[in-house]
Amino acid sequence: MNPPPKKSTQRIVIGAIVVWSALIISCVTAERIIVAPAHVAGATYVGSKECAQCHSDKTDHFAGATHARLHISDVKLGDTTCEACHGPASLHIQSGGKLGTIVNPRKNPEACFACHLDKRGEMSLPHTHPVLAGKVSCVDCHDVHKDKSVRGGGAALAASTETCLKCHTQQAGPFTYPHGAIKEEGCLACHNPHGTVNDKMLIARDANLCLRCHLSQLTPGFNIGGFKTGGAHANAVGSRLSEGACWSAGCHEGVHGSNVNASLRP
Ligand code: HEC
Ligand code: HEC
Ligand code: HEC
Ligand code: HEC
Ligand code: HEC
Ligand code: HEC
Ligand code: HEC
Repeated sequence: MNPPPKKSTQRIVIGAIVVWSALIISCVTAERIIVAPAHVAGATYVGSKECAQCHSDKTDHFAGATHARLHISDVKLGDTTCEACHGPASLHIQSGGKLGTIVNPRKNPEACFACHLDKRGEMSLPHTHPVLAGKVSCVDCHDVHKDKSVRGGGAALAASTETCLKCHTQQAGPFTYPHGAIKEEGCLACHNPHGTVNDKMLIARDANLCLRCHLSQLTPGFNIGGFKTGGAHANAVGSRLSEGACWSAGCHEGVHGSNVNASLRP
């Protein structure tokens, strides 16, 4: 066994041991354990420099990517960052890039689970995007070759919301009365796209989902968006919440926005 790898500020080092012709990565970083690295039978690692001659579109922007800090700690190999996800590339290069000679994680999330094991857990929860079923890919939401790995441009919040709206156009509106939550915190204010135990991947199943931001709605006299809630709202909440949650008890069904009513009625 190699000594435990160290996490420096610059790069995350992956300890490696060579067994026969395959390189098995056994890694412990501060947070992650690699269980089974991307594997190509009979191939060996060649280093990332080799990729540039044929894939400059990927290598040119890679330096700023989070995953550019990954590194297999073998001084003889040098930088093996690309192969941390794509597997050893010697056969790929010898064959001039023949298909089937290298791992493409778009088709298989296992390449990502090798390090992000917790995501396999989340993706196995009752309500999740159908990633394990192969209908949605990590790559639909993450571009690992550039910057921070969330698809879309701009700030992380804007980028992640934009990504969701590509597929979920209904929630985009435009609404006469959009819900301020989306502008403030985006879709992740209420959903975890990797999966949760709650219907619709909600991060809470009951009024707590809303109370994180609207706690004082229950307080008489609280005023939000010009709507005087007062004691009447507190009373209504008391009786209606036995029939469902804030969005399912016949009150605020338009959680993403409404064209009818500022109080997000459907
Ligand atoms: C000699 C040129 C060459 C080199 C060097 C090279 N590749 Fe490729 N690669 C190709 C070609 C050609 C393709 C196929 C493109 C196509 O058919 O669309 C390809 C395809 C790929 C694919 C997609 C495979 C798929 O199944 O979709 C990946 C991933 C890939 N290369 C990664 C790498 C990595 C990582 C390196 C460096 C370790 C590397 N390549 C080095 C030529 C090369
Ligand atoms: C964190 C994992 C990860 C790392 C590190 C990584 N890639 Fe990729 N690579 C992917 C994924 C995921 C895809 C599929 C992307 C897609 O289809 O949009 C991919 C696709 C590719 C492709 C196929 C291109 C295409 O458009 O179909 C090439 C070529 C490639 N990577 C080269 C590289 C090179 C070169 C490096 C190093 C500079 C690298 N990758 C580093 C995960 C990674
Ligand atoms: C060899 C290990 C490894 C593999 C394989 C890997 N990652 Fe990562 N990933 C990391 C590390 C380490 C971080 C940084 C964690 C940190 O800084 O806390 C990270 C961070 C991320 C982040 C957080 C956003 C960011 O850019 O900082 C996303 C999203 C991500 N990875 C997605 C993926 C996807 C999708 C794949 C498969 C295509 C993948 N990763 C494969 C190790 C890996
Ligand atoms: C439906 C979209 C979507 C899919 C599919 C998806 N993610 Fe994410 N992921 C996100 C968003 C959005 C974030 C939050 C980004 C932010 O905080 O700005 C995120 C954050 C992450 C992070 C960093 C924060 C954390 O939770 O640890 C990792 C790592 C990650 N994703 C890995 C993956 C992997 C691996 C897959 C595939 C198995 C995957 N994701 C599939 C949307 C998605
Ligand atoms: C690549 C397309 C795609 C992207 C991007 C995407 N989704 Fe999805 N989403 C789907 C698919 C497919 C389903 C499953 C639909 C089904 O099972 O009927 C789904 C289901 C959902 C559901 C549950 C819907 C239901 O009726 O049960 C929610 C909530 C959701 N997505 C939120 C998000 C959020 C939040 C984001 C951004 C972080 C996002 N999605 C990004 C394709 C996508
Ligand atoms: C304030 C919390 C909140 C925010 C923010 C939010 N959602 Fe939702 N979303 C919900 C609730 C609650 C439901 C369940 C509605 C139901 O079951 O009637 C839901 C349901 C969904 C569904 C299932 C179909 C439907 O409309 O019932 C999708 C898809 C979805 N949300 C996507 C998104 C996307 C994309 C974003 C970001 C643009 C987003 N949500 C932001 C609370 C939220
Ligand atoms: C991330 C914080 C956040 C969450 C979570 C949240 N909201 Fe909001 N909500 C806001 C903001 C911000 C406004 C706009 C306030 C303003 O314009 O003064 C708003 C406005 C509203 C309004 C309009 C009030 C009015 O009369 O103008 C209603 C109704 C509402 N939210 C209901 C809900 C419900 C129901 C939930 C749970 C499904 C929820 N909110 C979750 C932040 C949030």
